[in-house]
Parts: sequence; structure tokens; C-alpha cells
Amino acid sequence: MTQTFVMTNHKGGVGKSTTATNLAFGLVRVLKQAGAANARVLLVDTDSQGHASLVTTGRRDFGKDNSLYTLLVAERKEAASVLARCIAQSTWDDDLHVLPASPLLEGAERELMGVAGAPYRLAEPLNRIANYYAAVVIDTRPSFSLMTEMGLLAATDAIVPVEPRYLETIGLLSVVNKINDIREGWRHPNLHVRGILVTKMDTRMKGHIQLVDSLKAHPVLGNLMCGVIPSNEAVAYAHSQHLSVFEYDPHCAASRAYAQFVSLLVKQLVAQRGAA
Ligand SMILES: Nc1ncnc2c1ncn2[C@@H]1O[C@H](COP(=O)(O)OP(=O)(O)O)[C@@H](O)[C@H]1O
Ligand SMILES: [Mg+2]
Repeated sequence: MTQTFVMTNHKGGVGKSTTATNLAFGLVRVLKQAGAANARVLLVDTDSQGHASLVTTGRRDFGKDNSLYTLLVAERKEAASVLARCIAQSTWDDDLHVLPASPLLEGAERELMGVAGAPYRLAEPLNRIANYYAAVVIDTRPSFSLMTEMGLLAATDAIVPVEPRYLETIGLLSVVNKINDIREGWRHPNLHVRGILVTKMDTRMKGHIQLVDSLKAHPVLGNLMCGVIPSNEAVAYAHSQHLSVFEYDPHCAASRAYAQFVSLLVKQLVAQRGAA
């Protein structure tokens, strides 16, 4: 089964889209450097705001005929071919492909409410084409909505980005429990919490250090910590230029931290495959 990462946290502004885009591009780079025969990565944007689509393609004109919305409302027997047709090329790398979001996704949730099998409208067609990709990365919107459920049901590895602030970390256990509920309640045994990623860490702030220390010491959350990304203005500049942080400045603190995060994930996956 193709490794499919989903960024999830019902809070907005915690770095989901930043992590999704840089993880997707980072995976392409690592695969290419390793000489992999298939270095293709698909980024799926399920957030109607379309930030991940915009920064990776430079476009915001996705809509009725060429976006995730098109797939969600398509006849099921045509879904896999509609999916293949809606995938766009990222400007970041030839091997980075994007299933873009559109503002129409807001309406799709209402349109699909109550439709039998609606939560699987992404997972099913994605499963059929996933072998073409070395990995899939899914960005979600800041809520536990039908769209986010669709993302979780299509994924194998959930990553929870979180800011080191008191109120942000308070809800963390409920995010982890929600992912576990999807696994158990929806009988989706392949979904696991891969890790909690602390983002926008400012080591000059005592509160940030205390919170990261308390997360590390937490009996459940501590074992799930998988990286710390520093607060770094290069991230915002990279976004405004529609670049990955690696391309914007390969030596900045955020690039180095994201590179470390990507290589940790790859190491874990290689070890997991070896053990399987
Ligand atoms: N490590 C970072 N350092 C500084 N700013 C960041 C960092 N990560 C994200 N940001 C900024 O924070 C804002 C929210 O990030 P984003 O990835 O869009 O969050 P989400 O998708 O969870 O809403 C954006 O303006 C982004 O540029
Ligand atoms: Mg986002």
C-alpha cells in the first residue's frame, strides 16, 4: 500500500499546509537523491482555501472541471479516470503532482452530506491510482468536517502539526483520539498516528521551551513527537514567492529542520518495510 501521509489538526495556522507542501517536495528530493526508480509524490489539497495548491502550482483557477471537487461529484464508475485527469503538475518539480482544491469544496460538503459512501469518495479512487506514486501527502482544512474525514480515510500515516502554545497543545490528545477513533470506528486499520510535529518554535520564548518539555514528558504524546520546526520568517517569504522553503533558502533553520523531519520519516518507513 502506498504510504499516504495526512496533516491533521482542527486548529488553523499551525503549519499543516506548510508541512504538507514541504514534506511532499522533500520526499521527491530524497527519493531522487537515493536513485529511486519512482520518485513521484502526489499532494492532495482538501482545504477549500487552496493554499497548498496555490504555492505549489502558482495557480488559483482550479474549479468545476479540474479539481478535487470534480472528483468528489463525479460518477463513481468514472472516478479513477476523473482523478487522473484532474491532477496538475507542480512548478516545484516534475515529479511533484497536485490534486488541487477549489472554493467549490465548501459546497461539496453540503452536497455530499447523507450520500451513501460519501466519506470514501477520495479514498476509493486514490487507492486505484496510488501505485503510480511513491507516496501521497494530504493537506486538510482546520476542522473535523466530512472533508477531513475523507482525508483520514484515504491515509496511512497521520501527522499532527502543533504550535507550542498552551491552548494549542490542550486539544492535542483529542486530535490523537479522533485519529484512533477513525481507525477503530471506521475499520481503517492502516491508519496510524505517525507523529506530532511542533512548528513555529521560538527558543527565545520560555513558554515554548516549557511546553515542548512537557509534551516530551507526556506518557502518550511524548512517544509521538517526531520533530520541531523553528519559527522562521523564510517560511512566509517562501510562500509569497510560491517556493518550497528548501528552494527559497536551503540553509535556513526551517529548511534544515524540515529536511531532518523528512529523513526521519523515510528512515522509519524503510525500517517498517524491512520488518514487514
Ligand atoms: N516555521 C514557521 N515559521 C514561521 N512562520 C510559519 C512557519 N510555519 C508556518 N508559518 C506561517 O504560519 C501561517 C500558517 O501556516 P499554514 O501552514 O498555512 O497553517 P495551516 O495550514 O495549519 O492553517 C502561514 O502564514 C505560514 O507562512
Ligand atoms: Mg492550511
